Parts: sequence; C-alpha cells; structure tokens
Amino acid sequence: MARDVAVIGVGMTKFGEFWDRGYRSLITEAGSKAIIDARIDGKDIDAVYVGSMSPGRLIGQEHVGALVADYAGLVGVPAARVEAACSSGGLALHQAYLAIKSGLYDIVVVGGVEKMTDVSTEHATVALAGAADQEWEAFHGITFPGLYALMARRHMMDYGTTEEQISLISVKNHANGKLNPYAQYQYDVTLEDVMKSSMVADPLRLMHCSPITDGAATVVLASGEKAKKVCENPIWIKGSALATDTLSLHGRKSITKVEASAMAGKKAYQMAKVKPSKIDFAEVHDCFAIAEILAIESLGFCKIGKGGEMVENGETWIDSRIPINTSGGLKAKGHPVGATGIAQAIEATWQLRGQADKRQVKGAKTGLTQNVGGSGATCTVHIFSEEK
Ligand code: COA
Repeated sequence: MARDVAVIGVGMTKFGEFWDRGYRSLITEAGSKAIIDARIDGKDIDAVYVGSMSPGRLIGQEHVGALVADYAGLVGVPAARVEAACSSGGLALHQAYLAIKSGLYDIVVVGGVEKMTDVSTEHATVALAGAADQEWEAFHGITFPGLYALMARRHMMDYGTTEEQISLISVKNHANGKLNPYAQYQYDVTLEDVMKSSMVADPLRLMHCSPITDGAATVVLASGEKAKKVCENPIWIKGSALATDTLSLHGRKSITKVEASAMAGKKAYQMAKVKPSKIDFAEVHDCFAIAEILAIESLGFCKIGKGGEMVENGETWIDSRIPINTSGGLKAKGHPVGATGIAQAIEATWQLRGQADKRQVKGAKTGLTQNVGGSGATCTVHIFSEEK
C-alpha cells in the first residue's frame, strides 16, 4: 500500500431544483469543471466512476457509467456506476481511491449525480425508500423521515436530547449555506422558524429535513507521482474507509449509535494516523438534523449521548471547536443523493486549499467527510490533508 492518492481537481453544479436541465447536462458540467481545475486532458483519464442512487426510478435511465463516459467524450474509457443509496458518492470515491492505490490506474475521474425533481415528492420518497429494507420496513409504510424520527425519539428518551438542540443544527447549517453560492437554500432561519415549521414525522419537522435536489459533483484523483507532476496544490486522501451495518433498524443493538460510521471512522483514523481531536472540520451526513448528532457522536467528536449538548454549546459553528458542515450540509446545500459524498469531498478540498471564501476555517489542515447510506447500513469516511 505504498502509493499515495490525491485530489487534483474538483467541480460541481449549483444544487437546486432545475426543471430546465437533465441528468447528463448536470454531470457533464461538474465533470468539465473538475477536469479544467485539474488541468488534465481526456487522454490522461484512466477510468471513471459515477455514484448515482436511483436514476432508474427517478428518470428511467440505467446504465449511467457508459452514459457519462459517452457524454464526457470518453468512449472507450472504463466507466462504472457505483450504488450504495445516499452514500453512492462516498462509495464511488472509495472505489476510485482503491483503483489508484492498487496501481491499476493513475488518474481517475469520480463523479456523483442525481436528478430528483422531475418527479413528485411522493415518487421521490418511494425511490428513496428503496434504500430501506423492503420486507421489514417499506412494506409497512415507513419511509426515511419516519426511520430517522424513530432514531431521534429514542435519542431524546435515552440521552435527554431536546427538540431545540436538534433544531439548532438546522439554524447553523442554513447560516453556513447562506455563505455557499452552490447551496440550494442560501438564507438564514431562526430557531423559531425551525420549531414552528410543519411536522413531517414527529419529532422531525420540514426544517429538520434535507430537501429533494438536482445536482452533480466531480473530483479528479491521481497517484502521488502523477499529482506532483500536474498539480501545484494536491489534497491528500489519508484515509478511506467503508463499513456496513444491518439494513433494517430493528436488527441493531442500538438505534442511536451508527455502528457503520463508528467502524469506518475508526479505520479511517487508523489509516490517517490521526485522532478525532486533530480533525479541523468535518462534512457529515445530516439528511435529517438528528443524523448530524449521531454522526458527531459516532466519529468521536464528543461522547455518545452528548451530541445535543455539543450543538447547544455552539461547538460546531465555523470558528468554533470543530466546524461541522461548513458547506451548509445536506440541509441547506441540498441532497442530490448520489452527488452528496463527492460534494462533501469538494468542500473539504476547498477548505484545505484555502478557497472556501466566507466559510473558510482558519488554519484548516485536516478534514473529514462522512457519507451515510439509508439509515446507516453503509457508511464511508474519508480523511483529507493538505500535507502528504
Ligand atoms: N427545507 C426547507 N424548505 C423546504 C424543504 C426542506 N427540506 N423541502 C421543501 N422545502 C420548501 C420548498 O422550497 C418550497 O418552498 P416555496 O413554496 O417557497 O417554493 C416548499 O417547501 C414546498 O416544497 P415541496 O417540494 O412541495 O415540499 P414537499 O412538502 O413536497 O417536501 C419534504 C418536503 C421534507 C417531504 C421533502 O423535502 C423530503 O422528503 N425530504 C427528505 C428527502 C430524503 O428523505 N432524502 C434522503 C434521506 S435518507
């Protein structure tokens, strides 16, 4: 495992609701931007991976690995779609990392894309529920807001976490999203706005939910040797880990601890030889506000059960102890499911290059991204560093 892997280029579309744009236009924009940023040419690209959760159900299109290579002008280049529900992007990044680490490829383009708003919310909800256990969960009518509501209610019962604490996550993520020109929602919300928003699945309200989003994101990875030749400011991937848990919630010892996140986090910390206290910022998977609390606990930024307090103490804002979701997170930046894991890697790259503008975390040297599939059955964790 001697080879180093670096991010040498990034590019993304704005996230939002784009009725005048299609799947291929989104991923082509993100891909072109990343290739221009990396200053490479089509002939330099050894392979393409695309994270996409449900194009078949959402737009009727399967076989998107070949589609993306075709529309990128890369016919002939190995290209594959990777799927792990909302962690499809994180998994694509992990696969691309492994492909370079193994020595098979030197430069790999890895994208994530989803076109979700061409269908009704009901249709998108059913497509998303495809990531839950069909026989034990979806068959009985529960969808993702309901599953995360169960986790939230249990966390409140076990640890005294309050609705205010959960709501403060949305307030912070909207404040960060306001500073991000790529975010779907670029406006502030107050605690009252969040707590008075309409109920979706008790105790989770509209303002605790990530929205339904169109968007695409792409990063270009290179081996250490190539990166040094073509790039002035490579960002190094120091840890890349994947773990799984039971598909359904009822199979778990605890529904308030995301074991896959804890396992992937532990592996990634070992690979990067860092402790949670050395992480300067993190992009975590806040598909519902409670998920941000579960993430910061499972990744060791606080003790289990103390996430709510940590949020209430203001420790997760930009310029505080450990800035979480400087991009606005899934809540404000938006959540085009297959693109999310790659967009997190882009925010980490911008932060470590010092290009995050008003969201910049001062002196950021090491960042972490955590991307969850379903209610936690898949989790990828990546650790990025400006130093090799
Ligand atoms: N946060 C803030 N505003 C939201 C929002 C959200 N999550 N979702 C929708 N809105 C806004 C829209 O922008 C729109 O505003 P406008 O009237 O000013 O244009 C308004 O609410 C109505 O939008 P609409 O699309 O009709 O909302 P909806 O009621 O159909 O859907 C949710 C709302 C919460 C049900 C939907 O966003 C959802 O299902 N989110 C979760 C997605 C999910 O499960 N992802 C996978 C996670 S595992």
